[in-house]
Amino acid sequence: MSKSGLKKIGVIGIGTMGNGIAQVAAQSGFEVVITDINAEVLEKGMGNMSRSLDRLVKAYAKSEGAKGITEEAKNEALGRLSTTTELADLVSCDLIIEAAPEIPELKEGINRNLAELGYDKVLATNTSGISVTRLAAAYGKPELYMGMHFMNPVPMQKGVEIIRGLGTSQETYDLIVNLCHDLGKIEIPAEDKAGFAINRMFVPFVNEAIRVVEEGIAGVEDADKVTLCLGHKMGPLMTADFVGLDVMVFICNVLEEEFGSFYKPTSLLKRLVESGQLGAKSGRGFYVWEGFKPVGINPDVARYRIG
Ligand SMILES: NC(=O)c1ccc[n+]([C@@H]2O[C@H](COP(=O)([O-])OP(=O)(O)OC[C@H]3O[C@@H](n4cnc5c(N)ncnc54)[C@H](O)[C@@H]3O)[C@@H](O)[C@H]2O)c1
Repeated sequence: MSKSGLKKIGVIGIGTMGNGIAQVAAQSGFEVVITDINAEVLEKGMGNMSRSLDRLVKAYAKSEGAKGITEEAKNEALGRLSTTTELADLVSCDLIIEAAPEIPELKEGINRNLAELGYDKVLATNTSGISVTRLAAAYGKPELYMGMHFMNPVPMQKGVEIIRGLGTSQETYDLIVNLCHDLGKIEIPAEDKAGFAINRMFVPFVNEAIRVVEEGIAGVEDADKVTLCLGHKMGPLMTADFVGLDVMVFICNVLEEEFGSFYKPTSLLKRLVESGQLGAKSGRGFYVWEGFKPVGINPDVARYRIG
């Protein structure tokens, strides 16, 4: 029996984050139903998830059982997952985690649709920084709404920022804490201000790293390399590529709206997104990527200079 008492979890969006959330939930013994905009996206997402589970099986063999999971555990996890293009198929879930793109109106629309479909249980959002209170209003049941900000990559990162909206009930908060434990995660409470705790710090870090490149102070690799001296495992530009540069721009905009121009996305970040170079998921960002491995510096970035 799980600590949360939940059995069936719905996940909205099978992109970078939804994929990882669904995987971890299935590995933790939950039945998981995932929805996305069409069958092709769902198929691609399931392929990514299967490859991610394969890596864990390989890690198990390599570490002689110290890390990773068995082939049997992988097949059991896959057996607990199902996909659908119909949001209505999630109404029977005990809890839903929404991991759709960081666009307030889009998330509000999903919340309104769920309420219209008669969903009346806890709805958690993986938003990186949109007001949880604002999104709760669209659901219409603020007591049952909460932020659950997983970190990327979800199967590896233990921390989850948990964010109460103004109207979130204590029961919902306790349920989310228990769910974090069921998923093998550590909850980190943060208040409902744009960017919460992590992106309030991470966004200026990435923006300044981009300015360092734009101004020719250091190249992409060196800008990242120097931050490793702070004890970080990965530099800000490579992390931004992993997060998704479109996601970075969305978060910058949310922070700028609440706190002003200090958080404005830099020109180079905007140009990369305008040209469809979104980081690891699109094959190009600050780096060139092959199968989520960096294989060089993006030449478009290497020659970009301002000031
Ligand atoms: N990428 C990160 O590192 C990261 C980290 C923490 C939180 N987040 C947050 O998680 C959320 C998702 O980000 P992501 O990086 O996974 O984005 P993504 O673009 O990789 O995935 C979003 C998915 O949602 C789907 N989608 C779009 N509209 C939909 C709808 N109406 N119904 C169902 N699915 C729909 C898309 O097709 C896509 O598969 C965002 O709120 C983001 O801010 C992202």
